[in-house]
Amino acid sequence: MGPVLVKRDLSVTHALTARLEAAAAATENRLARALADTPLPGEQQRPERLMAAMRHGALAGGKRLRPFLVLESAALFGVPQSRALAAACAVECVHCYSLVHDDLPAMDNDDLRRGQPTVHKAFDEATAILAGDALLTLAFDLLCDEEAHPSPRVRISLVRALARAAGMGGMVGGQMLDLTAEGRFANGMPLPLSPEEIIALQAMKTGALLTVSCEAGAILGEAAPQERAALVAYGQALGAAFQIADDILDVEGSAEAMGKKVGKDEAAGKGTLVSTLGLEGARARLALCVEQAEAALAPLGARAGTLVETARYVATRQS
Ligand code: IPE
Ligand code: IPE
Ligand code: MG
Ligand code: MG
Ligand code: MG
Repeated sequence: MGPVLVKRDLSVTHALTARLEAAAAATENRLARALADTPLPGEQQRPERLMAAMRHGALAGGKRLRPFLVLESAALFGVPQSRALAAACAVECVHCYSLVHDDLPAMDNDDLRRGQPTVHKAFDEATAILAGDALLTLAFDLLCDEEAHPSPRVRISLVRALARAAGMGGMVGGQMLDLTAEGRFANGMPLPLSPEEIIALQAMKTGALLTVSCEAGAILGEAAPQERAALVAYGQALGAAFQIADDILDVEGSAEAMGKKVGKDEAAGKGTLVSTLGLEGARARLALCVEQAEAALAPLGARAGTLVETARYVATRQS
């Protein structure tokens, strides 16, 4: 849902809300430009139906947390928003594609996303598959542009980090494990996972993209290895917190605030930390992840205050 809903969360300061809103607006403007109808050099034409579906999947709402993390982590190293925006949009394109495909009937079969019909409902399945494909490809186009960074070495580093986070050993791999655990490939009998296995799966399906969002700032800012490592550790803890919060909200949240159906995980027999540890156990684990996220930022000092608050926001969000 849009950043307006963030305001309902009393534990988030006005300053953080304003920064989230500004990042979301800048991201949407840049994404809208990237998704214009006019073809770029090397392209032939941009089919109208495909573009409409891509815009539906990428421009209609969303918290824009990943771009926010790219912008904020880059700002730690003095990289201005205008210089970090292409990378921020690249990560968001991968995220939006992952949602379009995640919602498909062959995957989670969801009708509602960001308060709107999912792309395959608003259009059709084939168009949703293609819109997801083209959003993924667009991400790497954005990273190749000089706008992303003047140094080709830095751009290649961003491409590799995003490819590794998004692909077989990251988000896509995590989605595979997630569906496998639902029992999709074993006569529909959910495979019981240990909490450690759930943590490992979630670190891939959700954590990898959130982690690379934080790491991208260090890559853009050509930060020292220990600063980059601090942001990676922060991203990993934040990613874990984020998915636990998503799983708690799937039980306790409202479809209205979330902009997507709730109660889906239990219906699918999905192993989550809520299903294995119970709500209280999941909340305790969530609090621990937030502490770990904050601790990871220690090497970056006081300038990381916004990221500290972001970890708390992720844990207390209602949408
Ligand atoms: C939803 O991500 C998918 C998960 C990884 C749980 P978000 O909650 O960030 O979705 P949007 O972008 O705000 O819609
Ligand atoms: C999705 O996890 C993670 C992705 C890679 C998209 P979920 O399937 O739990 O996300 P929601 O609840 O549909 O947003
Ligand atoms: Mg899913
Ligand atoms: Mg889903
Ligand atoms: Mg979920």
